[in-house]
Amino acid sequence: MNGTILAIETSCDETAVALIRDGRRILADVVASQVALHAPMGGIVPEVAARAHLRWILPVLEEACRRAGVDDLRSLDAIAVTEGPGLAGSLLVGISVARTLALIHDRPLVPVNHHEGHLHAAWLLDPDDAERPEPPLPALGLVVSGGHTFLILIRDHLDYVRLGGTVDDAAGEAFDKVGRLLGLAYPGGPAIAAAAERATRRDLRFPRAWLGESDDFSFSGLKTAVRRAVAEGAGVPQESAEAAGAALDPEVVAELAWAFQEAVVDVLATKTVRAASRHGVRSIVLGGGVAANRALRERVAAGAEALGIPLVVPRPGLCTDNAAMIGAAGWRRFLAGVRAGPELDARPSLRLAS
Ligand code: KG4
Ligand code: ZN
Repeated sequence: MNGTILAIETSCDETAVALIRDGRRILADVVASQVALHAPMGGIVPEVAARAHLRWILPVLEEACRRAGVDDLRSLDAIAVTEGPGLAGSLLVGISVARTLALIHDRPLVPVNHHEGHLHAAWLLDPDDAERPEPPLPALGLVVSGGHTFLILIRDHLDYVRLGGTVDDAAGEAFDKVGRLLGLAYPGGPAIAAAAERATRRDLRFPRAWLGESDDFSFSGLKTAVRRAVAEGAGVPQESAEAAGAALDPEVVAELAWAFQEAVVDVLATKTVRAASRHGVRSIVLGGGVAANRALRERVAAGAEALGIPLVVPRPGLCTDNAAMIGAAGWRRFLAGVRAGPELDARPSLRLAS
């Protein structure tokens, strides 16, 4: 055992391979992004994504091994791969490559849940990072991505209790849809965050869906409120509000983006900190693309500080989809003896905990 694991992630629109040591240290982390490919369509096209994975997976694998200085895969402890959730055709590309490598090089194959990966990104260290303590457990985890939004209690590695999740849109999905309404670039998240920073007027307030004391979230009402505001501003019917923001004054767009982001961040941060307090956890970790959002990080950081516990948020490149996080979670699974056979298949609707 030299503690090195190769990890493959192809669940959505990033083709990614990483090499990780001892579940923490990144030796190589290569991500081929398909964002430019899907941008003209305003969203991910599964068929296009699967073909792009097929085109890029071997060059990305080769580049990751080159950067890590690994030329013999027999020196690895294991090969980890995302088995779900995600797009079936995309998952299958990574799984087929991982299965083949495990078979050829006689290495253990470790299946990983994509969300478990997002949570474990908080454990990763970049090549030049100084050692730092691991997030103490139990921890409260918030995963906020384009496809999922949920709160989870991490009692231990591989021991999770799901506390609540979105009852309609995922937070990232809401960012992407509102980005389209406002006529901003795809993906909506970073574009809205950038527009919000430019807002000079900050008076508008959109409604928050608190759903009582529950740990669930809802963002569809907020999306409708933005649609109504865009339609009114542009003088068009609500049904024709798609991209109508493009006709609005950029100052108005910036204020709408800011008010929308405030509403999402307020609910996400308040519920996360409340759940952390309620369960008496020792740290908070964030994961998923929306965790790259600065306003969200700042709000949760303030709440964690008030509770006297650390907040660990990976750098933005480790919040969005990557394979390093799959290596971090895969290592814990490897140590726990989790293995898959050569029949490993994609599990598009896999859940992390019931
Ligand atoms: O985790 P991820 O890379 O892919 C999924 O598994 O979904 O998350 C992508 C999502 C997109 O919806 C994108 O708009 C959002 O993360 N996102 C952001 C930011 N950066 C990415 N949302 C808000 N603020 C950001 N800075
Ligand atoms: Zn993801």
